[in-house]
Amino acid sequence: MKVLIVGSGGREHTIAMCVKKSPRVDEIYCAPGNAGIGEIAECVPIGAMEFDKIVSFAKEKNIDLTIVGMDDPLVGGLVDELEAAGIRTFGPTKNAAVLEGSKAFSKDLMKKYNIPTAAYENFDDPEEALAYLENASFPIVLKADGLALGKGVLICNTLEEAKDGVKSIMEDKKFGSAGNKMVIEEFMTGREVSVLSFVDGKTIKIMSSAQDHKRAKDGDQGLNTGGMGTFSPSPFYTEEVDEFCKKYVYQATVDAMAAEGREFKGVIFFGLMLTEKGPRVLEYNARFGDPEAQVVLPRMKNDIIEVVEACIDGTLDKVNLQFEDNAAVCVVLASDGYPVSYKKGFPITGLEKFEDKDDYFVFHAGTKKTDEGFVTNGGRVLGVTAKGADLKEARSKAYEATEWIGFENKYMRHDIGKAIDEA
Ligand code: AMP
Ligand code: GLY
Repeated sequence: MKVLIVGSGGREHTIAMCVKKSPRVDEIYCAPGNAGIGEIAECVPIGAMEFDKIVSFAKEKNIDLTIVGMDDPLVGGLVDELEAAGIRTFGPTKNAAVLEGSKAFSKDLMKKYNIPTAAYENFDDPEEALAYLENASFPIVLKADGLALGKGVLICNTLEEAKDGVKSIMEDKKFGSAGNKMVIEEFMTGREVSVLSFVDGKTIKIMSSAQDHKRAKDGDQGLNTGGMGTFSPSPFYTEEVDEFCKKYVYQATVDAMAAEGREFKGVIFFGLMLTEKGPRVLEYNARFGDPEAQVVLPRMKNDIIEVVEACIDGTLDKVNLQFEDNAAVCVVLASDGYPVSYKKGFPITGLEKFEDKDDYFVFHAGTKKTDEGFVTNGGRVLGVTAKGADLKEARSKAYEATEWIGFENKYMRHDIGKAIDEA
């Protein structure tokens, strides 16, 4: 079988690694991919938003299965275009990917189907949003409706801050057209857990839980990033939480989408907050999380091709989704200065140390291959993942492996998985 993966980050590298393990796969292509993916797949210089080129390439190469990893092409309707051209594709169609593409849509869906989430109002007029804030209690959360690279959420402590926030989202269009609408919602406190799932339109199967670390600096300080590290499973995702979410969140979301004529096939990522009143949905994504994928997928026992095909064919109920009874930790190696400004082009050493080890993985995000070898080429450069018998062992192995890698402005958080000690 020939498989095409669309995307270019650590998530797609992880997907490519799983695809490569499948005995059913002969050839792997990735558009556009990255230097690490290029070691196990053939990268083609086609951008994830170049839909016509992706469709032509898939037809020309007789691709049997396409897996779309990234949010932008999913929300933009790449799956619809590939399917229209007769190419089997894993991922939600445009009318289902709106679950991630519009926060106003997802909030209305949760309200209509009684899925627990923060209280909120949607606005498409900045004047109305400003008037609403006058009587609101603080802190309060402002969210740009559309995709904003994970940056469209502002937590405002005062009325003044919130007014500035409305202005920057809706008037100055800091996040572009993502700010044509916005959600204002109640501020919640609690631990966050990411739960990824496979969905075939009717059936949903939950993967092992994970926790991300979104802030750039230790102690959850500094700016929000794409994610600085993850661990899986989350010790805070207890049986009680699992039972609650199975009853009120997971199947309810899949059924709600089907009832709205938006049958969802692909991965739903549930961003949950475990509040004192119980779990609440913070957000949905229509894809694997990154770097969540880098700790969840290496622990999956199933052949990813079989699971993905079952999602496409509506036979997920027949799949026994299984995860190893161990743990994984991923520490992101970034370029110092990320997410604001940073230098790139520095040679990377030590990558070969991962080659002959089953429990250690290095996933590329921002790297480039030159005649002299791999060099840094982005803010998040590599994800270093290790598996261990438990979270503590996985964490110490992951940090040990971060030492194997060298580049001039290497930066990482030193407290990924510190929360484990409090469990
Ligand atoms: P989102 O993209 O909706 O997940 O928001 C990004 C981050 O903002 C989340 O991971 C939370 O840390 C925070 N956040 C979002 N919504 C809320 C909320 N209602 N209360 C508190 N924090 C929130
Ligand atoms: N790690 C969060 C995300 O993928 O959106």
